[in-house]
Amino acid sequence: MKFDKPAGGTPADRMTVLGKPHPRIEGPLKVTGRAPYAYERHDVAPDQLIGYPLGATIAKGRIRSMDTTAARAMPGVVDILTTLDMDALPTDSNNVTSLFGGDEVRHYHQAIAVVVAEGFEQARAAAQAIVVDYAPEKGRFDMEAADTEVALEKTVGDFDAAFAKAAVTVDQTYTTPGQSHAMMEPHASIAAWEGDAVTVWTSNQMIAWGKKGLANTLEMPKDKVRIDSPYIGGGFGGKLFLRADAVLAALAARKVGRAVKVALPRPMMMNNTTHRSATIQRLRIGMNADGRITAIAHDNTSGTLPDGDGEDATNQTRYFYAGDNRLVVNRLATLDLPEANAMRAPGEASGLMALEIAIDEAAEAAGVDPVQFRILNDTQTVPEDPDRTFSNRHFIECLERGAEAFGWDASRPAPATRRDGNWLIGQGVAGAYRGSPVMPSGARVRLQPDGRLIVETDMTDIGTGSYTILGQTAAEMMGVELGAVEVRLGDSSFPVSAGSGGQFGAVSATGGVYAACIALREAVARRIGSQPDALDFRDGLVTDGNVSRTLAEVAAEGEIVAEDKMEFGDFRSKEYELATFAAHFVEVGVDAVTGEVRVRRMLAVADAGRILNPVTAHSQMIGAMTMGLGAALSEKMEVDVTQGFFANHDLAGYEVPVHADIPVQEVIFLNADDPNSSPLKAKGIGELGLCGVAAAIANAVHDATGVRVRDYPVTVDRLIDHLPAA
Ligand code: MOS
Repeated sequence: MKFDKPAGGTPADRMTVLGKPHPRIEGPLKVTGRAPYAYERHDVAPDQLIGYPLGATIAKGRIRSMDTTAARAMPGVVDILTTLDMDALPTDSNNVTSLFGGDEVRHYHQAIAVVVAEGFEQARAAAQAIVVDYAPEKGRFDMEAADTEVALEKTVGDFDAAFAKAAVTVDQTYTTPGQSHAMMEPHASIAAWEGDAVTVWTSNQMIAWGKKGLANTLEMPKDKVRIDSPYIGGGFGGKLFLRADAVLAALAARKVGRAVKVALPRPMMMNNTTHRSATIQRLRIGMNADGRITAIAHDNTSGTLPDGDGEDATNQTRYFYAGDNRLVVNRLATLDLPEANAMRAPGEASGLMALEIAIDEAAEAAGVDPVQFRILNDTQTVPEDPDRTFSNRHFIECLERGAEAFGWDASRPAPATRRDGNWLIGQGVAGAYRGSPVMPSGARVRLQPDGRLIVETDMTDIGTGSYTILGQTAAEMMGVELGAVEVRLGDSSFPVSAGSGGQFGAVSATGGVYAACIALREAVARRIGSQPDALDFRDGLVTDGNVSRTLAEVAAEGEIVAEDKMEFGDFRSKEYELATFAAHFVEVGVDAVTGEVRVRRMLAVADAGRILNPVTAHSQMIGAMTMGLGAALSEKMEVDVTQGFFANHDLAGYEVPVHADIPVQEVIFLNADDPNSSPLKAKGIGELGLCGVAAAIANAVHDATGVRVRDYPVTVDRLIDHLPAA
């Protein structure tokens, strides 16, 4: 099915199951431990051995030799595979560097061996007994000192002239550190071979990419690879692509002729896999005396391994605020640190950390309330291309509803003047922008002889609620209760879906189930000799005129199966810019003596199309806001610029928020249908909730203390010497 014009009325518009706050349908499995994660799939293959990976302890260079003699003699050890046993494996297009093989080390903790043993401790102990002789080379680890090249430059009007003429200007540089996905479930895979075919039970956001990646890496036909990933303990972009766990498990299982399971130990995840690049961002904003932006420039630098993409933090600046004269430059530094790649809202998450402080500074410089400043500079057309409009943009409404619900005081007292006992109190606001991409998405729906429905698609649920909203979509379309639908996900033998990434999952995958249900309605019509348009599906009945049958009666002679794929036409992006918007409001307390920052309350108002399930959408928002709090106050990968690795490579050193850090979080959805987005008129939301949060917190800290911190995270050491006299 092709979505090639704006959605009119559809069967999904009834919203009797969709739009309702159904709790997660796999929730009972999760809370009773019956939803197994990859490493716990004890039942899928017999006689599983443990594979324990070894990571390189240099960042760049060559391996002269590896001595495995002692390790092989240790108890329980079955076999050892080292990187010197083979040439570098081919690099799939979704990977930036080879995942195993050869003597070249291109980043710290690159996988260089896997020890296979009967027991976990045996494998781990033997891995430490491998003796590696390295020939290290000098690497490039310091982004501030690195040479850069321009990856993108875009100009509109004459920025320099307009900025020089501006009545009020802001020119500041902001930095964001490298960040780690730090998902709860590590990368893990169990592999088992049958002849020349391999099955990998793993944790992967994008099943079709994982399958393609493994086939290309092992140079085998795709139809000999099966990937299964039904439950995923978080990904955030860290599991978009094939990683070393799957490759090592598959190689080791093939070598020893038994199933092998490999998890990346937590201290290996940060340096073996990907992370969000650090950025250096210069923002220049020129305004009229009334605060109207006339010139805006965003210059970003990020870094990654050769051939990588880094983090384009300028993206939102091209779309978010008005201004006739514009300049964005995105620079890439080549580094020998581990690969930088996508992490939740890649681009915007970092970009808005800087842009939305700069906007706060611009509002302050212009003497305009920061909520009003954003309203004043809203645009309904794309600034680079005024002939194109946003399909649906309610940013002003987000700001206004938020200001009212939060109790935003437009006549704000001066910074550093509000106190509550020992706490300096401040409030901050920030805007959020995130694109609304879609991907083709397929699904199969099977009407069973008992009237129940089975939905099958290789879509994943990374903790987002995919099971539930896909079940709701099928239930709505076929006129049954949610309890009559079974949803099966994450298996590469199912139709290829969008997968989970780029906040395209919900909008795309529900579109795929919609398409399959339209096909199933047609198949039902054929079965009973009716025309599809004549049929009404509701309450478990299909009705033609005054004849009603139960779905069980219709399928009594045998299951009715339909499969289709939603493909999204160009009209969406040719005529419109599709995006999601939010406004974040935050109140912080800063300890007047120590500078400790506590977030006291958070509010987000989100414009993200039709809300398919207010519970799962709310959970996405508050989870993302929690991540934004981490980005604001604690998360930072510390680069050892002499040795070339992230030093704080575990959850003791890389600090994500805990429950005690999280205050009251409120979310308001505008629930504005976007008929240009999909037949369900929905958009993504999983990344929007992160965008802008950290800046709202930094702006609130400024309001509380008068201290403008431009380098994240906003830690005590950046505040303590600058606090108002206690
Ligand atoms: Mo997302 S960073 O595409 O999982």
